[in-house]
Amino acid sequence: MEGLTSKRLVVLASGRGSNFAAIADAINSGQIPRAEIVGLISNKKEAPVVELAQSRKIPCAVLESNAFRKEGRFDRSSYEKELLKILRSLNPDLICLAGYLLLLGPDIIQSYPKQIINIHPSLLPLFKGLHAQRQAILDGAKETGCTVHFVTEGLDEGPIILQKRISIFENDSEESLSSRLLPLEHETYIEALKKLCGS
Ligand code: GRF
Repeated sequence: MEGLTSKRLVVLASGRGSNFAAIADAINSGQIPRAEIVGLISNKKEAPVVELAQSRKIPCAVLESNAFRKEGRFDRSSYEKELLKILRSLNPDLICLAGYLLLLGPDIIQSYPKQIINIHPSLLPLFKGLHAQRQAILDGAKETGCTVHFVTEGLDEGPIILQKRISIFENDSEESLSSRLLPLEHETYIEALKKLCGS
């Protein structure tokens, strides 16, 4: 019965991995009943997220992006050919970007239409790109939040799935705001996945 099968999630991450861990733990504790993580792919072998996957016995592939850098130039096309091979072998229903610091090119995006999602630490379309929390503070915004959205070819531009907001306090620094926002990111990603996978 197709309606009752689990969605196969593949997570792409480059760093700390708190969103990855939150999703994995939510699935483990039955909060997202129709999802399973079938693999983590990281472009950094030293990234803490790799250990978080290993300790949870989640299959993990490292495709070191630095190995595709020659004379300072990143060979995105060769990198993505390899990435696509790994993705195809995992046969994902959904690809979840969680602190994945590389842009995805059109070949990958077009191979998985409406199947790639991302979390961004702002109320998109505000404050796209890096240091979104710092951008919000510098702009004098009174509130910010996080957004889970579909990934399209424009940076942080695809259709929004879910947003949650928090206040910015007068004495907030980039660090204090980011750490207050992080638990909300986890909550938002989990809720968005429930919505996409069915609960
Ligand atoms: C999060 O702030 C996420 O919104 C952004 O990158 C950060 C990743 O954090 N895209 P983590 O690696 O999931 O802890």
